[in-house]
Amino acid sequence: MVARRTDTDGRRAAVVAGVGSCLPARTVPNEELAARLDTSDAWIRSRTGIARRHVAAPGTATSDLAVGAGARALKSSGEPAVDAVLVATTTPDRPCPATAPLVAARLGMTGAAAHDVSAVCTGFVYALASAAGLILADVAERVLVIGAETFSTLLDPGDRSTSVIFGDGAGAVVLRSGTAGEPGALGPFDLGSDGESEALITVPAGGSRQRLSGVPPRPGEEFFTMSGKEVFRHAVRRMTGSAKAVLARAGWTAEDVDHMVGHQANSRITQHVAEGIGLPPQRCFSNIAEVGNTAAASIPLALDQAHAKGVLRPGQRVLLTAFGGGLTWGSTVLTWPRLDPS
Ligand code: ACO
Repeated sequence: MVARRTDTDGRRAAVVAGVGSCLPARTVPNEELAARLDTSDAWIRSRTGIARRHVAAPGTATSDLAVGAGARALKSSGEPAVDAVLVATTTPDRPCPATAPLVAARLGMTGAAAHDVSAVCTGFVYALASAAGLILADVAERVLVIGAETFSTLLDPGDRSTSVIFGDGAGAVVLRSGTAGEPGALGPFDLGSDGESEALITVPAGGSRQRLSGVPPRPGEEFFTMSGKEVFRHAVRRMTGSAKAVLARAGWTAEDVDHMVGHQANSRITQHVAEGIGLPPQRCFSNIAEVGNTAAASIPLALDQAHAKGVLRPGQRVLLTAFGGGLTWGSTVLTWPRLDPS
């Protein structure tokens, strides 16, 4: 689905006004995983591009990381509060209620609209589109959009095919109402899904399907599973298609894109997507070596790190594209604005 174009000629738009992120202190290098799993640093680096990932300590929940990232994004925006808080996550603090109201309260915004967005690794792009919708519909003037995960809590510690990939973390942006065409204005968006392929990325137990079946979960069904090879192919195809669709809608060519900040799923996936779009590899920001795949946190975390490193500079054109469980995919574009550090 390609959303109606909302930019140009000074119409209302959602504009990025702040950015921030938060990582748990503990890092787990590949060698630590290789000491307990049948894997190696060389395999992980060559097949995924990952060298280490951050892992939350026992007692640290998704909301803790979300509050850290949200506070920094608010500081960067210069605004102490917003009208709505959206948290994109696969790993909410609890099945019920959503994590966003607690995050809003802990950031001193009790009373603000707050809800979660569930689209696995595409969650942040879906949340950006939802937040832009709130702004364009005049429901909110400012929205804090957070992607936050403690993905390590879903992993089977004995499964080498998933344990080596994922990490924990959070990233956030503040969106404000502004005008299309100004730096930071988001859009157009491209969003899509394929529920027929939901079994490729799933946590089988814990939801209503399994609970209502009357059959107790089998050992291990509470863990995240992924059909890696097939997911790889879908990820390349869907991110490439979605990125191309959004570029066409924006009236941009690959030459116009200064940086692709894609979902950090696997550095080989990013390379294939870049090739498919016609982007040279040096225009693809990557932080996967240091943080792994942080699911819904991946893109905002990459944005904050790219901004902090001076890789993203005001006026540069940026393409965001993501793929995740569902299956889901989504893309958008913006011109990077001048932002204060978080
Ligand atoms: N260490 C060593 N060997 C391993 C490991 C490991 N950690 N994991 C798998 N292998 C082995 C396999 O058992 C297999 O062995 P075999 O040939 O003897 O059967 C061999 O390596 C090749 O396995 P593949 O699964 O084909 O490996 P591949 O190169 O595809 O890499 C990976 C696996 C990294 C999971 C890759 O498929 C991938 O990145 N998939 C996509 C992940 C992704 O995009 N996720 C984003 C969405 S996730 C979300 O939304 C939450």
